[in-house]
Amino acid sequence: MTAHQAPRWLRWPSDTSRGRLAFGADYNPEQWPPEVWQDDVRAMRRAGVNIVSLAIFSWARLQPRADRWAFDWLDQVMDLLHENGIAVDLATATASPPPWLTTAHPEILPVDHDGRTLWPGARQHWRPTSPVFREHALRLVRAMAERYGGHPALAAWHVNNELGCHNVYDFSDDAAAAFRTWLRKRYGTIERLNRAWATTFWSQEYGAWEEILPPRLAASYPNPTQQLDFKRFSSDALKDYLRAERSVLTELTPEIPVTTNFMVMGETKGMDFADWARELDFVSNDHYLLTGPQAQDELSFSANLTGMLAGGEPWFLMEHSTSAVNWQPVNLAKRPGGMARDSLTHVAYGADAVCFFQWRQSAGGAEKYHSAMIPHAGTDSEVFRSIVDLGATLEALAPVAGTRRRRAAAAIVFDWDSWWASELDSHPTSRLRYRQEALDWFSAFAAAGVRVDVIGSADDFSHYDLLVAPVLYVVPRALADRLSAYVADGGHLVTTYFSGIVDENDHVWLGGHPGALRDLLGIRIEEFGPLLDGDRADLDLGVSGTLWSDRIDVTGSDVKVVASYTSGDQAGRPAITTRPVGTGSASYVSTRLGPEGLRPVLSLLLTTSGVRSELPAAVAGAVELAVRTGDDADYWFLINRTDESVVVDGVAGEVLRGPCLAAGLTLGPRQVCVLRRPHGS
Ligand code: GAL
Repeated sequence: MTAHQAPRWLRWPSDTSRGRLAFGADYNPEQWPPEVWQDDVRAMRRAGVNIVSLAIFSWARLQPRADRWAFDWLDQVMDLLHENGIAVDLATATASPPPWLTTAHPEILPVDHDGRTLWPGARQHWRPTSPVFREHALRLVRAMAERYGGHPALAAWHVNNELGCHNVYDFSDDAAAAFRTWLRKRYGTIERLNRAWATTFWSQEYGAWEEILPPRLAASYPNPTQQLDFKRFSSDALKDYLRAERSVLTELTPEIPVTTNFMVMGETKGMDFADWARELDFVSNDHYLLTGPQAQDELSFSANLTGMLAGGEPWFLMEHSTSAVNWQPVNLAKRPGGMARDSLTHVAYGADAVCFFQWRQSAGGAEKYHSAMIPHAGTDSEVFRSIVDLGATLEALAPVAGTRRRRAAAAIVFDWDSWWASELDSHPTSRLRYRQEALDWFSAFAAAGVRVDVIGSADDFSHYDLLVAPVLYVVPRALADRLSAYVADGGHLVTTYFSGIVDENDHVWLGGHPGALRDLLGIRIEEFGPLLDGDRADLDLGVSGTLWSDRIDVTGSDVKVVASYTSGDQAGRPAITTRPVGTGSASYVSTRLGPEGLRPVLSLLLTTSGVRSELPAAVAGAVELAVRTGDDADYWFLINRTDESVVVDGVAGEVLRGPCLAAGLTLGPRQVCVLRRPHGS
C-alpha cells in the first residue's frame, strides 16, 4: 500500500463500522492474579474503555520453554474482554525474548558501538538482523495468528512493540553481514561504494565487500557516509523485520489490519517513520509529554507529523501517559486538565484512538512508578476520575471519528536524512539540533495562532503557500529541483543555516554554500559561522541569534536584505535575505533565532505569503487551533495553551465538547473545546 492510502479500519467492538473513538490502554494481566481481571473489566466498562493492547511482553508466559506453549491464560483474557465488549489490539509478543531463548542462543543479543553485549534483564535484547531470533520470533507470530486469528475480540495486530526503541543500532557480526548485503544492493559495485563514501580520504578504499564493517568504535571519526548509510541501513533492517512479521500475519489473517507503534517524539530519531508508514494498515504512535518550556508544542508537533505520516487519515494514539512517567530526570505528575488536554490535542491532529501505557499501574518491575489509568491509589483517585471523564468526552466526540485532517496553508518540512546527517560528528558545530530548529518554527507559528502542517520532504509542496525547510542539510538534485519548481510556481520558501549543503552521499555541493540552493536563494557563503556557547549575534529586527551566523554575499541582483547583523563578526552584513521569484520567493535565515526570535521573522513571511490566522486576533497564541474535516462539517479544536482562562469571541459552531457562554467560549486553563461547523455555514 502507498503512504497515502486510507487505512483499513479496525473492527470495533460492537459493530464493524466506524463511528466512535477508541479508548484504552496496554493491558498486562499477566502481572496480576485472575481475580483482579474481573475488577479490571468492570472498571474498563465504567471508564468507557473499548480497546486494549494485549500480550506485548508476554513471550515468556506464552512459551515458557522452546517446546511448550501456554495459551490458556490468554484465552481466558481474550474471552473475558470479548464478553465485555472490549476489542483487542493483539501484540505478536515478540518484544522481549524469554530467558530460555537467550540462554540457548546468546548470539541473538545486540552489540553496541563499543563492542559490548546488551545482556538480557531488561527488554528488546535482540538483534534486528539475527536469523536465529527471527526464526523463533516468527514461530511465535505464527502460533499467535493460528490461535487467535479467528477470535471475535481480535481487532488488529500489533507487531512487536516500539521497534527500535532500544536496539536500533546493533554493531554485531550479524549486523555487519546484513549491512554488506544492504550496501551491495544500494551500490552494486565496490567502486561505486568507494566513490560514495569518499574512501580516498584517510586510505579507506575497499577492495572487497567482506572488508566493510559497521561504524564501530574507531580511533577517530568514522567515515561520515558510512555512518549515514549505517543509519539508513539500521532503519531498513527493522523495517524488514516488521515486514517479516507482517507477512506471516497477512498470510494467516488477511482481513485483520496490522500496525506497530511508532515513536514520533522528542529525539527518537533512528527510525525513518516516513518510510515505514507505508508498511502498515494504519499508523500508530506513542507519545510522552516531555518537560520544558516547549513541552506542549512538542506534543502538537509530534501529533501533527504523525497525522501527516498517516497521509491526513486518522491514526491511533497507542500510548501516552495519564500522569508522570518514570524515565525523565524528574517525573512530574500532570496538572488538573493536563491529561485531557494532551489526549484531545492528539485527537485534534487526527488521532481516532486515545490509549495509554498502561491500564493498571504495576506494583513491581522497572515501570512501577509510571502512571496508569488505575494508579497505585486505585479507582478512588483523581487520575481514575479524570479517566472516566475523558471516556465520556470521547463518546461525545464520536462525530469526529473517521474525519481527516484539514490541510493548513503553511508547512514545515521534516526530513530524516537531514536529521541524521546534520548531527554527525566533525561538523562546524556539535551543538546543532535539527528537530529543535523545526520545533522552534512550529512554536513561532503557534504563537502567531497560525495552523501549520509538518510534512515529509517527499510530500507534495504545491498545496502550501508558505514552506519552511529548516536545516535542510541533505539536498539531492531532485529535491533542489522540486524546491525551485515550488518557488517558480508562486510558493514562498524559507530555509535556514546549514541547508542545501550536501547531496545524498554527504558530499558537499561545491562552488560556495548553500550549494544546492545557492542560485534559488541568490546568495553565496564561503565559510560557515558557528558561534560559541553564550555568544550572540544581534539583528536589526530587534532579535538575537545564537549557534550560527553565516557570512553572506548577496549574488542575485533581485535579492533583498530583510535583516542585518548589528553585532558580532558579521555586523553590518545580511542576516536574513529574500529573493522574489515571480509571485513566489526564496528566503534564507542565517542564524538560530529560537521560538521567540522567529516571531517577527514569521510575521514578515506570513504577510508576504498571505497566510493568516483563522483565530480572532485577541486569542492568537493563547489558543491553538487544529481542524479536522468530514463529509458535512469541519471540527475545530480550540486548545488553551495557557494556564489561565481565555475567552474566545466570534467563533461560531455547535459545541461538541467544552463550556459555552452566551458571550463567547470560555476555555478554562488547559481546556479544549471542540466545535462542529457544518460546511457552508
Ligand atoms: C514505551 C513502551 C511501554 C512503556 C512506556 C513507558 O516506550 O512501549 O512499554 O515502557 O514507554 O513510558
